[in-house]
Amino acid sequence: MERLKDHFITSNLEYSEGVVSRFIQEFSATNVLSANLLITALGIYSLKINGIQVENQLYAPGFTYYPKHLYFQNYNIQPYLLDGINVIEVYVAQGWYCGRFTHENKTQIYGENIAVSWILDLTLKNGSTFSIASDETVLETTNEYLYAGFYDGEIVDRTRPFEIIGQAKIYTGVLPDNFELTTIPVLQQDLIDVVDVIEVNDGVILDFGQNFAGYVCINSALMNNETIAIKHGEVLYPEKELYVRNLRRAKAQIVFTKGNQPELYKPKFTYMGFRFIHISGCVYKDDLIHAYAIHSDMHRTGYFISANRMVQRLYENQIWSQKSNYIEVPTDCPQRDERMGYTGDGQAFAHTGSYNYDTKQFWRKVLKDITYSQQDNTEGYVGPTIPAEGPKGIGYMSMLGWGNAITIIPEMLYNQYGDESYMSENYEAMKRHAEAEIRKLNDQFLWIGINLGDWLAPGKDVAWFAMNNNPVSNTFIINDFRVIADYAKRHELHDDYERYHNYYINSQGGYVKTFLDENGVIQGDYQGAYVLALQYVLKDHPLRSKVMANFVKHVKAYGLQTGFFATEYLLPLLIEANEPKLAYDILLNDSNPGWMYQVNRGATTTWERWDAILEDGSVNETVISSDNMVSFNHYAFGSVGKFYYEYILGIKSLSPGFQKLTIQPWIDERLMAVSGAYESSQGLIEVAWKIVDSKYEMHINVPIASTIILPNNETKEVPCGTHAFRGIYKNNR
Ligand code: BGC
Repeated sequence: MERLKDHFITSNLEYSEGVVSRFIQEFSATNVLSANLLITALGIYSLKINGIQVENQLYAPGFTYYPKHLYFQNYNIQPYLLDGINVIEVYVAQGWYCGRFTHENKTQIYGENIAVSWILDLTLKNGSTFSIASDETVLETTNEYLYAGFYDGEIVDRTRPFEIIGQAKIYTGVLPDNFELTTIPVLQQDLIDVVDVIEVNDGVILDFGQNFAGYVCINSALMNNETIAIKHGEVLYPEKELYVRNLRRAKAQIVFTKGNQPELYKPKFTYMGFRFIHISGCVYKDDLIHAYAIHSDMHRTGYFISANRMVQRLYENQIWSQKSNYIEVPTDCPQRDERMGYTGDGQAFAHTGSYNYDTKQFWRKVLKDITYSQQDNTEGYVGPTIPAEGPKGIGYMSMLGWGNAITIIPEMLYNQYGDESYMSENYEAMKRHAEAEIRKLNDQFLWIGINLGDWLAPGKDVAWFAMNNNPVSNTFIINDFRVIADYAKRHELHDDYERYHNYYINSQGGYVKTFLDENGVIQGDYQGAYVLALQYVLKDHPLRSKVMANFVKHVKAYGLQTGFFATEYLLPLLIEANEPKLAYDILLNDSNPGWMYQVNRGATTTWERWDAILEDGSVNETVISSDNMVSFNHYAFGSVGKFYYEYILGIKSLSPGFQKLTIQPWIDERLMAVSGAYESSQGLIEVAWKIVDSKYEMHINVPIASTIILPNNETKEVPCGTHAFRGIYKNNR
């Protein structure tokens, strides 16, 4: 919206971290027929008209690659207007734009200070029209926010008077070229109630029973004192103590002083990742506090219920980790001084996430963050975090497995939703990324260097992967070539097909020659490399069966040993290897490393590290990259969710967008009974099965004619509708 570009105003105050600006503008209007307000900010704004908050979008206008792209919003404010004098009141916090952000705790990343712009277009009942915009008539005042920032939280004092600072300053700094109406807002979602109140020496700890991203809501009428202070944490450790060391430099606190008017106070310019809060300053009583979870607004499309409580809890955990980390961008975690858009974490969980929720809008937005950021990378790579921190003067090598999100995610979206626009819109960006990789290849068509490998694989640290990552890292490059070649082939882009197919074949050849011996043993003989080679490199290669056999042997010998990237494919490959019992053994294993180990230790979201809590019950504080790195809410290992939909329920799409459907549930008596559903682009798919007296019973509802594969491998072609099957259950088919 070009008009907004002409009306940016900024603060009179020198930049200081955490400052919130308040702007007011009065106007007179009577008999208003329509009133539309366009608004955006460099920072985060909150808008009130005559004292009433207008927006329900959180952290508006949203997090974008500010050097090139900014969202704006459009509100009908007619219902808020009075005949006579009206007041537009806009608070602007620093947010991602110039507040403290990134694991390096930088400030002013995208600009020196906040700025905001609005235009109000009014039509009166007599037909006349006029507009008001942010300009020098706007006044800036002091306000109740003493501090606001994502990491440290908010300090709010409602008793503070509003004093005029002066007329707003006209903003003359740079603005991005692209202004766009928001497509997917972050909204307040689930209400979370207190489930336990724990008395401690210096106050009270409240347990919400669930780890999540969101904020508290304080009923000021129930405060027995002027000020309440709240600290947030994910776990209690040692017992009855809020563990905050994993928040690193994030203070994650709220300090709220009430005013004369009773209110329900909720922070506006921050959110936290927490399950527990510590309260001091006020006596806790029922209803003083509850909380809300937040996330980018998405429609839930996947459901799963199992009679096995552990299996069910793990499913819920990955859902909660998705909710907690789909906040504007695919964040790594919601609690510590990070909360950045990580491409690698994003791609590792994206497929699972696209079953749980309709993620089309989320990714369309994030793919823009990726491609705008990429345009400022002089080497053309997609970086590990997006939106990027600003134009890069010099190029940098993408972290392999991270930047490759640019091919993995559009292809996944195409397959899941049958919509090729994600591929076509990002095709040039994919090629740019692949060309940057090509420039780094050696004469074996491989990239040899230091990288992070299969991040956080058990027992393999950064130093080990620095020397041994190559059999993992190159799989991502080879897959990039395959994705681009496949697209080029479908669209008859002959030259592109030729180029990228050749790179695919050559680098596949180089990979086999360099990293595999004739018995299919991979260099370093580690699980992540087997998994990713099978997934990305050896689809139709003669060595596949030997490599598969070595992979199975490895799993039998060592159990689960995968990191962020290989975990998604571990159980599906075991099924392909005809080892369903082994797949379920791994799923259900409750020793470390294993999913049920986390569940057994009380996890309500998926952990960043398999052993975030060590076997002796202590928090794993082993330093990685010079920092405590133990988030209890990272979703990469939640990529097991895909196994729930595609194998436990057996819902498998055979052509993009579920146009061809197979249902092949893999039954295991340890799960007792399961049911679930996926709302595919073809319609609702439902599957339920249970085991009774060594017999299975299965109910299936399909929206289109489908193929059903029964546990005895019998294949049935069925029309759309519901179908029931019974048969003998034999363990380990
Ligand atoms: C993040 C990860 C990320 C990694 C890569 C960590 O600090 O939390 O999830 O992928 O860094 O460097």
